[in-house]
Amino acid sequence: MARDKPLQIAVVGFGAAAQAFIPAIQANSSFELVAVVEPHPEVQKAARLLGVPVFHELSELQTVSELDGVYLATPTPLHAQQAIACLESGWHVLVEKPMACNVAEGIAMVQASRQCHRHLTVGHSHSFDAPIQAMKQIIERGEIGTVSMVNNWCFTDWVYRPRRPEELDSKLGGGVLLRQGAHQIDVLRALCHSPVTTVKAKLFNTDPKRNTVGAHAIYLDFENGAAATAIYNGYGGMSSMDFTQHVSEWGYRQTADVRKWYTANQAPQSAEQELAAKQKRALDAIPAEAPYQPHFGLTVVNGSQGDIRQTPHGLMVCNASGQTEIHLPSHQSPRDLVLAELEQTWRAKGSHWHSGQWGLENLRICQAALESAESGREVLLAN
Ligand SMILES: NC(=O)c1ccc[n+]([C@@H]2O[C@H](COP(=O)([O-])OP(=O)(O)OC[C@H]3O[C@@H](n4cnc5c(N)ncnc54)[C@H](O)[C@@H]3O)[C@@H](O)[C@H]2O)c1
Repeated sequence: MARDKPLQIAVVGFGAAAQAFIPAIQANSSFELVAVVEPHPEVQKAARLLGVPVFHELSELQTVSELDGVYLATPTPLHAQQAIACLESGWHVLVEKPMACNVAEGIAMVQASRQCHRHLTVGHSHSFDAPIQAMKQIIERGEIGTVSMVNNWCFTDWVYRPRRPEELDSKLGGGVLLRQGAHQIDVLRALCHSPVTTVKAKLFNTDPKRNTVGAHAIYLDFENGAAATAIYNGYGGMSSMDFTQHVSEWGYRQTADVRKWYTANQAPQSAEQELAAKQKRALDAIPAEAPYQPHFGLTVVNGSQGDIRQTPHGLMVCNASGQTEIHLPSHQSPRDLVLAELEQTWRAKGSHWHSGQWGLENLRICQAALESAESGREVLLAN
């Protein structure tokens, strides 16, 4: 049988997210990286090493013939406008999470995708990770009965890592709720597998020198009776790796003595110094391959007939049959799994789980959490 021609993809924005993604594209024979768009002169130097054209502006992609789609890894405030422009140019779009700064922008993106008959996918997000996908399959096979609770705890140094100013501003898609809560909501929805009916949240902004939402506690009710919590503390204190046998978000073992951990005690930096530090960190912030499974904090699922949690190599399922450890393959990184779904979607060969609509629902719940924290009340979601 003749092989499909590789899908031509361009990457827009060559920062931390893109630099983590590009090795997966280059290693995947179903895709061909054909161009990069990056306006920053210093960052362009690194992008040129890829051996593909590097453009200053998105509009220059019009010169690439037969482009199938783009991966938007630009700062969140640019997502809506760039995604709509790409869809209108006839390209499929993979956009980073959070898909937009607010629900109105997200709706416009989903509408553009429908009107232009091009696919909009949101990712990478952590429900793409192999352990979360395997948990979902175990639940669907009924091996732990009906899901009653899913709880996720993440404790990181997110607040003190080098940032652009907009990354700290909730109105521009910043702060831990929109940036990291988006991952937690994505995982909780994948595992509870039902529409969210109510959201109650409390947010914390506790360091006046770093004005941002740095921690949250979110409680979700699902239509099928399940309940879930997303707990996040990004203030660089205790790490949730202390609860995951020291395995990190990207599947590396990082004991406390070797962790690169940002704390409140750093010397203040100007915006330029901070941007330069962010660009330097992007070079190796997210490794392409890892010996262990990715752990976005600690995720525990409780069902009517059993429970599931992660282990460094996979999952531990506890039910009437006892405790069973399941080893999961580690040859595919989370980014490889995004590309697998993207290929199925772009070639119209498989289901499209992480669609614009799925990402929009994640954003709607994050926005409801912001509203709940502001009003001190539970927010009801119309489904
Ligand atoms: N899924 C994940 O695990 C993950 C990890 C990190 C970041 N992200 C997301 O990826 C997005 C980018 O975050 P980042 O940390 O990589 O940011 P970044 O600042 O490191 O990278 C963004 C890049 O886009 C470039 N850029 C700016 N304006 C542009 C334009 N008009 N056209 C093209 N490029 C432009 C910047 O110069 C920069 O190099 C955000 O939405 C963030 O939430 C996701």
